[in-house]
Amino acid sequence: MISFHNACKTYQHDSTIRALDNLSFSMEKGDFYFILGPSGAGKTTLMRLLYRDLKPTSGQVLIDGRNIGKLPEKEIPYLRRRIGVVFQDFKLLNDRTVFENVAISLLVQGEDKYEINRRVMRALDQVELTDKRDMNPRQLAGGEAQRVSMARALVKEPEILLADEPTGNLDPALADNIMDQFDAINRRGTTLLVATHDYRTVQRYDFPCIVLKDGRLIEGPTRDPHHLRAFVGNYREEVK
Ligand SMILES: Nc1ncnc2c1ncn2[C@@H]1O[C@H](COP(=O)(O)OP(=O)(O)OP(=O)(O)O)[C@@H](O)[C@H]1O
Ligand SMILES: [Mg+2]
Repeated sequence: MISFHNACKTYQHDSTIRALDNLSFSMEKGDFYFILGPSGAGKTTLMRLLYRDLKPTSGQVLIDGRNIGKLPEKEIPYLRRRIGVVFQDFKLLNDRTVFENVAISLLVQGEDKYEINRRVMRALDQVELTDKRDMNPRQLAGGEAQRVSMARALVKEPEILLADEPTGNLDPALADNIMDQFDAINRRGTTLLVATHDYRTVQRYDFPCIVLKDGRLIEGPTRDPHHLRAFVGNYREEVK
């Protein structure tokens, strides 16, 4: 369903930054992969290529055999309908209520009011936030804002869900709660990619892992616990 073929992405800043370097891997429909790697490894860049926020500098990113980098502009909204994204920085609109934040993609798609209400309330219920529907994102705790961001992705009933550091700012109990929800969403058939440097979460769930470092795939997909333990050992040193 998803495949990267020698995908490279460079950013031009003062110098050329090679954020992804010859990345190749593929996933089947219904797979759940972790993307593990330290800060700057290229996790967010990988996700941005998938929803065509960026084009690869070279190589290909395919979804169902279609080259996403070559998609005509007018087809991008249709691609994005199929993909839910939980952004690393949430990207919530502070001048809208929680309900409105979750409803936006459905409004843009032209769904009717009844359908929007039904789906938004169901998504808020899934993340246990129905009682906060009229609040402003600024009034929410970090974990709550995280869950609004998740509801906004879920409301689209996406085929593919991308979550960028979804447990980064949460205490362990909340992180487990969010991960259990991803697990449940995946069991219902959604393909999931979760970027994280939270090795505790990765260890708790038996999903394949792609390990990135300096934009390169250094291991994976793998769920070999020996390997993972070795990586976590190194990683723990790196983050100090
Ligand atoms: N818009 C940009 N302009 C220039 N360089 C960028 C840009 N976005 C990312 N980079 C660089 O590309 C590399 C990969 O960044 P990316 O955000 O994909 O990493 P990440 O794995 O998501 O990191 P983190 O765990 O901190 O979120 C880094 O060196 C980063 O500084
Ligand atoms: Mg990132």
